[in-house]
Amino acid sequence: MSKLFEATEINGMALSNRFVRSATWEGMATEEGGSTPQLIALMEKLARGGVGLIITGVANVRSDGQWVPRQLGAFKDEFIDGYKNMTKAVHNEGGKIVMQVAHGGIFARPEITGQIPLVPSELEDSVNWKLRSGRKMSTVGKEMSIEIIQEMIEDFCSAALRAKESGFDGIQFFAGHGYLFSQFLSPVFNKRTDAYGGNLENRARILLEVLKNVRMAVGQDYPILVKINSEDFLEGGLTRDESLKVCVMLCEEGVDAIELSGGTWISGKNIPSRTKITTEEKEAYFQEAAKVFKEKISVPLILVGGIRSFHIADQLVEEGVTDYISMCRPLIREPDLINRWKEGNLAKAACISCNQCLDEGYGEEGIYCVVERKVKEKRNELR
Ligand SMILES: Cc1cc2nc3c(=O)[nH]c(=O)nc-3n(C[C@H](O)[C@H](O)[C@H](O)COP(=O)(O)O)c2cc1C
Repeated sequence: MSKLFEATEINGMALSNRFVRSATWEGMATEEGGSTPQLIALMEKLARGGVGLIITGVANVRSDGQWVPRQLGAFKDEFIDGYKNMTKAVHNEGGKIVMQVAHGGIFARPEITGQIPLVPSELEDSVNWKLRSGRKMSTVGKEMSIEIIQEMIEDFCSAALRAKESGFDGIQFFAGHGYLFSQFLSPVFNKRTDAYGGNLENRARILLEVLKNVRMAVGQDYPILVKINSEDFLEGGLTRDESLKVCVMLCEEGVDAIELSGGTWISGKNIPSRTKITTEEKEAYFQEAAKVFKEKISVPLILVGGIRSFHIADQLVEEGVTDYISMCRPLIREPDLINRWKEGNLAKAACISCNQCLDEGYGEEGIYCVVERKVKEKRNELR
């Protein structure tokens, strides 16, 4: 049997295989951030489709941190009952589910939140950052005071306690892709001269303080994961060497697993969800970084980014490059991909990495695979 289908555990969270659904904003929460029957049905479908661990789409820890519509929220006790239904649905299918939590920082959208984004540093508005869509990004924000940083740490603790009460099997701090923690880590966004800026220890401080405080709040045996950039792919951004050092610090502070990604939405071709993965050579685009990280970190590694072929996933685990295989877009197109592979149909994931799903998430329906829908429509026409 492939190691991919071995049962494992992460700090006591028993997993039926080594496949992870990487956090995926679904655009299916209520306007405010609560769970919906549509979202629960999707989570249920994913668990039934065989993925061992589902990581939710990102949930804001404060209402001013939202950056996309119908994004989950972890800032209100009123959301807990809805989340209990979500976690129950996944558990009934034999799956596990972890809540991803974050704050958008400079990416938070005032047109959604009605508030000025909280940022590590106020930046020159002349910075010419282009988002994936080609739209110029706003750099307007309000620098976080030490009091606000302390408040934010508390907000992460409250969010983690809500996740635990809701029945999530663990939490994941989103420290990659350019959002708040990632901004603190990156000299491109962090120009502070106090204890939260400057050298790497200072830039990592907020993330480590959150980890320390959340650990105290949720207890030793509650899984805490971190998703982080192997590097930012921005001039002057977080480098691979620095990220590696941060991961070692996270291990020392008691993180239970690290999911390795990379890039930001202003990193040009090196965005986190790269397109045109047309050959096997283009798959698993953070595997070289993973080889370096795996040697230095003492907790399980979860690799994400462009993994499409079963035999590549198998080889990555077999050769010890990573402990877990994480996928996002392939499971949008084929929520039952893992069962398909398990049953012996080892054809590579049907996802063509076109990113149309990202654009569709803004619509009423939330994300879906645009290509798959067209294929189905064509088939129906031909009948
Ligand atoms: C529609 C969509 C939504 C995403 N939402 C999140 C998210 O909420 N949190 C996160 O950490 N990454 C998010 N990502 C990034 C993915 O988790 C993943 O890192 C990236 O797509 C590369 O993996 P893949 O090649 O398997 O898609 C999203 C990507 C897509 C396409």
